[in-house]
Amino acid sequence: MNRYLLPLSVLGTVAGGAVLLRDYVAGGSCPSKATILGKTVIVTGANTGIGKQTALELAKRGGNIILACRDMEKCEAAARDIRRETLNHHVSARHLDLASLKSIREFAAKITEEKERVHILINNAAVMRCPHWTTEDGFEMQFGVNHLGHFLLTNLLLDTLKASAPSRIINLSSLAHVAGHMDFDDLNWEKRTYDTKAAYCQSKLAVVLFTKELSRRLQGTGVTVNALHPGVARTELGRHTGMHSSAFSSFTLGPIFWLLVKSPQLAAQPSTYLAVAEELEGVSGKYFDGFKEKPPAPEAEDEEVAQRLWAESARLVGLEVPSVRGQPLPE
Ligand SMILES: NC(=O)c1ccc[n+]([C@@H]2O[C@H](COP(=O)([O-])OP(=O)(O)OC[C@H]3O[C@@H](n4cnc5c(N)ncnc54)[C@H](OP(=O)(O)O)[C@@H]3O)[C@@H](O)[C@H]2O)c1
Repeated sequence: MNRYLLPLSVLGTVAGGAVLLRDYVAGGSCPSKATILGKTVIVTGANTGIGKQTALELAKRGGNIILACRDMEKCEAAARDIRRETLNHHVSARHLDLASLKSIREFAAKITEEKERVHILINNAAVMRCPHWTTEDGFEMQFGVNHLGHFLLTNLLLDTLKASAPSRIINLSSLAHVAGHMDFDDLNWEKRTYDTKAAYCQSKLAVVLFTKELSRRLQGTGVTVNALHPGVARTELGRHTGMHSSAFSSFTLGPIFWLLVKSPQLAAQPSTYLAVAEELEGVSGKYFDGFKEKPPAPEAEDEEVAQRLWAESARLVGLEVPSVRGQPLPE
């Protein structure tokens, strides 16, 4: 019996240490207990993953939650789950396909018609490393959905957000933005060989640049906007990557994933924090990695690049807004 004692205690220590390390890596629960009773919240891509869990967390805190998704069956099912789990009946499902400018305009028109206030907009939906697909309007899918779709949606909701101040916009980016580069000669991957990874990174860099420029434009309005890397989470995001599709990769990568990858519930804590925390009142234009503000990649800090992206995005989605803050478009 004694000869098993040492290996067993070593095993126990290693297992305990691994669990502690995993909790440390995951970052824990939202440190704020703030409630948002009666506040209107829109979460895009809320039928699964981090979006669904964020909607659930915010429903628990008393918000009127609108799930904005492209598949109404999944959207209604998620809304039902959240109502059942939180007993908050102010959780509804709406159609929004970010790969269609028409759908975005219809969604925004209905919201502005029906809701006087929108206090929190969480631009969460994304597609990662899909094949070389294009949106309904011909944009490369990852740039089109992850950046352009949210760019248009946010701009169309800005008046309502301003009327609801103090209000907050949270843009889900990713650490992957550090490997991104804005290629203004070919934003839509029409001239280069398509690189699905680089396209995802570019789209997530665009999200941080959009956040920075929007924050500068929103100064003094009471509307804040921040970008977030939620951490690496076990969601459907990798559906196009083929990861875990073989027994071999599941076996070899499984332990690493167990250690480093968060549950969707834990990965939703930072978005929840940015949406509700009282200590973040007035904080805008920042990039958060989990709960901590961090400097983003140098290209994401480049004001000229951000202004150029804004002008290009406005042109692509047909938004009639000045290209440079407050200044009319040059002829
Ligand atoms: N998971 C991670 O490790 C990780 C790491 C860094 C950043 N993030 C970011 O966190 C956010 C949430 O990701 P997740 O991991 O929860 O991914 P997910 O499980 O794949 O969920 C993505 C959501 O986006 C929706 N979506 C995709 N295309 C859409 C479109 N055209 N119109 C409307 N909705 C659309 C999906 O709807 P369908 O179900 O209908 O496809 C789904 O609801 C994303 O912005 C992602 O980039 C995640």
